[in-house]
Amino acid sequence: MITHVLPVIGPLRPWADPTQVQIGRLPMSQPLPRGPGDTVPLDGVWSFRLADSPSDVHGDDVHGPTPLAEERWMPIVVPGNWTMQGTADLPQYTNVQMPFSGPPPRLPDRNATGIYRRAFSVPADWTGHRVILEVGGAESVHAVYCNSHFVGYGTDSRLASSYELTDHLHAGQNHLAVVVIKFAAHSYVEDQDMWWMGGLHRSVVLRRRPRVSIGQVVVDADWDPGTELGALEVRTVVDGGGTDSGAVPAGLVIRTTVTPTLPAGTPSLPAGGEAVAPPQEHVVPHQYDDPYVFTGFEVTAGWQDLDIQPWSAERPTRYTVSVDLLDQDGAVVDRTQQHIGFRRVEVTNRQLLVNGQPIWIFGVNRHDHHPDRGSTVTEADIRADLELMRRHNITAVRTAHYPNAPTLYDLCDELGFYVIDEANIESHNYNTSLCDDPSYRATWLDRGARMVTRDRNHPSIILWSLGNEAGYGVNHDALAGWIRRADPSRPLHYEPAILGADWTTAGTHATDIVCPMYATIEAIRRYGESASGERPLILCEYSHAMGNSNGSLADYWDVITATPGLQGGFIWEWKDHGLRQTLPDGTVRLAYGGQFGDDPHDANFVADGLVSADLDPHPAMTEVAWVHRPVAVRPAEQSREEPTVEIRNRRSFTDLADLEGTWALLVEGEQVATGALHPPWVAPRSTAVASLSGLLGVSSEELQGHLAGARSATLTVRWVTTTDSWFADAGHAVAWDELTLAEGRPASEPLTVTQQRPERAAEQLPEGVVDGPTLNLFRGPLDNDGLRLLPQLMPDEMVGSEALGRWASLGLDQADPDTLVSHTASTEVTDVGTIYRHAVEVPPQLADPPRVGVLLALDARFSRMRWFGRGPGENYPDRNRGSLLGVWESPIDDLPYLVPQEYGLRTDTSWLELMTDDGEVLRVDAIGRPLHVSATRHRPEALFAAPSQDVLEPDPNLILCLDVAHRGVGTASCGPDVLEAYRIPAGRYEFAYRISGRPA
Ligand code: GAL
Ligand code: MG
Repeated sequence: MITHVLPVIGPLRPWADPTQVQIGRLPMSQPLPRGPGDTVPLDGVWSFRLADSPSDVHGDDVHGPTPLAEERWMPIVVPGNWTMQGTADLPQYTNVQMPFSGPPPRLPDRNATGIYRRAFSVPADWTGHRVILEVGGAESVHAVYCNSHFVGYGTDSRLASSYELTDHLHAGQNHLAVVVIKFAAHSYVEDQDMWWMGGLHRSVVLRRRPRVSIGQVVVDADWDPGTELGALEVRTVVDGGGTDSGAVPAGLVIRTTVTPTLPAGTPSLPAGGEAVAPPQEHVVPHQYDDPYVFTGFEVTAGWQDLDIQPWSAERPTRYTVSVDLLDQDGAVVDRTQQHIGFRRVEVTNRQLLVNGQPIWIFGVNRHDHHPDRGSTVTEADIRADLELMRRHNITAVRTAHYPNAPTLYDLCDELGFYVIDEANIESHNYNTSLCDDPSYRATWLDRGARMVTRDRNHPSIILWSLGNEAGYGVNHDALAGWIRRADPSRPLHYEPAILGADWTTAGTHATDIVCPMYATIEAIRRYGESASGERPLILCEYSHAMGNSNGSLADYWDVITATPGLQGGFIWEWKDHGLRQTLPDGTVRLAYGGQFGDDPHDANFVADGLVSADLDPHPAMTEVAWVHRPVAVRPAEQSREEPTVEIRNRRSFTDLADLEGTWALLVEGEQVATGALHPPWVAPRSTAVASLSGLLGVSSEELQGHLAGARSATLTVRWVTTTDSWFADAGHAVAWDELTLAEGRPASEPLTVTQQRPERAAEQLPEGVVDGPTLNLFRGPLDNDGLRLLPQLMPDEMVGSEALGRWASLGLDQADPDTLVSHTASTEVTDVGTIYRHAVEVPPQLADPPRVGVLLALDARFSRMRWFGRGPGENYPDRNRGSLLGVWESPIDDLPYLVPQEYGLRTDTSWLELMTDDGEVLRVDAIGRPLHVSATRHRPEALFAAPSQDVLEPDPNLILCLDVAHRGVGTASCGPDVLEAYRIPAGRYEFAYRISGRPA
């Protein structure tokens, strides 16, 4: 018996049938802009009712006039997720598991179903035209009714669906109903690691089109690096779908024109600028010509040897293709345009080339996410993402794991980003079955083909991705075949095609790139060095940015830049998916899985971004910008007497003329000399060698003079932009490097010992110290140390570290550390402060602890820190290569991570000063060797105890940690654990420091 019905289409239950991808939906096309009078936006407030399931939707919900927001109806904003707008149905977060039980295509009985209603009128001058409704995105499936008629049904939450409304409309007020069903058979292929939402989350618009109109504009714009000339082919399909017979009359003409793209802000139609080649006119074939050879109502305009500028992310030069449809009298009856770019993408000899040059992929994975609006993002949101990315040298985006909002691609074309466009196909929980399941074949093909059709004119897209984590089966090969034929100009990307297989040979039908996720440095090095196979390696995901993370990013890049065949990758991921939530007591927080009462859930695994949901960069962004820097300076192989340096231009098409370099010489952290760099000319993707004195523009004698007697001296070189750009004002630092010129012990040495006492007595505590120093071996565990909120996720397949479990079993989180290791300490009171010396013996069974050091509780009034060490931001032993040695000053850090955990460390610190607002100072000088230090408002055990920021109280004291050793942060929440070199082996650790005060 059928219990779930929808008016008119009910007995078919298409949402429960995976084979049914659409009813009455128009074929996908490229977004074809027309004049401003040709569009009526339907965004805004609609009437809304939430039903428990499709069977609770009745005739009167979708028929008749739009109900007002009375009892059963409420106002709702379109575009938006209903899960973010005060309905009873809240967001739910799961990673791999489905929110309901299978097997596919089984659906839960409770299946939130939203009914959206609104009235609209059609402009009077639209009479006689086609009227098309475009539903920009509905999660997950939707049915459309207009004036009580069923119009159509569509699947795929992340692509638009268009429907013909023409014959359902009348003059005056019309009524629209869109029923959105949250879960469908197709939800099993939308099982991405993200919040399950519901609703019309992208714009809804009405579009006017002539009865006979331009239906498709397919552009292939090539640039030949050999001849440096462009070639263009524009295929236009005329659509007679608005006429009774669907036929196109004889004698129509398509005129195609190419012009340079006008600067942003210039009205887009009609296109301006001088044509780059003579416009072409082609007569549209007529259906009665000869059915046997008839190729459709389609014409192709083509140009060769165009003298144009190619498109690349470094120089995103665009052109505009304008297409006019002329009637028999030569009058323009339809007109549209596309912004395009000329470029060639190819994979050859284990390299991904753009315009004949290999490129570095400085990438991130990006979801559409906003803390208040969920998956609804505006153009301003996307611009803000891209601007912040570009400010950190991120120049590539993988649209994880679905076609992102259409504006993203326009902006990537315009601003210059390389994009992997990914189909909305992830059947993670049914990883090995649905990809071979014939009932899901149509949805595979439909999703991939519609994405390619929508997006193929974007020059920014360099690879098509068949989806994510959906196993590898016949459905993939079917889709790959379709794409390869439809768009031979772009290579394919699909990670599971090489997963667990031989990277040299596996999955070549479905992927032209070896694109592993979370591979170890060793594994990618091995592939690169094997020199086998044809495909370059680009990590589709790596360096999982969950909490305090991204350890060894620089170690990845050391290998990537040194090994042929490796070209970079996409960090997982751009942004935390925290959702703003107001608690009953008024506390506002960014919530993660489970905090909406959602069950099942996967806790804070949804918060694994380089930036917070509010776009606050996490500290690791400094390292990201540094590993992606466009120019790198390092000491050259010492072949000559004079010190020489190597300047590497890592861009593919641009020299360094747009940058200005400066240098600063730091002795003991203090700047003693500075000047402009005098770099030689460095061609794109090449390296120049210069003498150090030549680069700095000073004589060797002068340089030696500065260094004389210096124990520690570093040279900092910085490159800044010289002009204002879309992402930063002139003077923005794009690259920096540190060269060590003299290495030695920290400046301060113990002064005259006036007194020596082995035992520390309370009255001897230096001014400002409330308690301590006490031995400290623990840290607020990182997400990378163990997934404490997700105990069910065992360390398996590189998800989660075993470290936290091991530390807990050793009692590190509970026991007095002095009972776990042997620790001797001595104190000397001198005339300038108190010297503390420690020796700690880490026994073999305790090897690889979080840290070895001491903790001091200080007067909470200390509010700023000045130090000579790495900074200015937080940095850790395996994430400090982009943090320079210097004397830095900053307020006491706030916890930057959604889930409390260790934070705030500054490595290689020789001295620090803590300051109160009243000018009192407490100074710590490392003796013998620098220490890693942090001054925060929290003790490790408090960070460990608090599952979220809102329940974390500041300590009554400022907590100062001084470490002789601190475990790296690694990336083990998903990926390799901390490398051996950044772990703390068993053995003896000696360290010393002096604490002194300076009265206000
Ligand atoms: C990958 C997956 C991503 C995300 C990540 C962990 O396996 O493709 O979607 O789940 O792991 O955060
Ligand atoms: Mg997944």
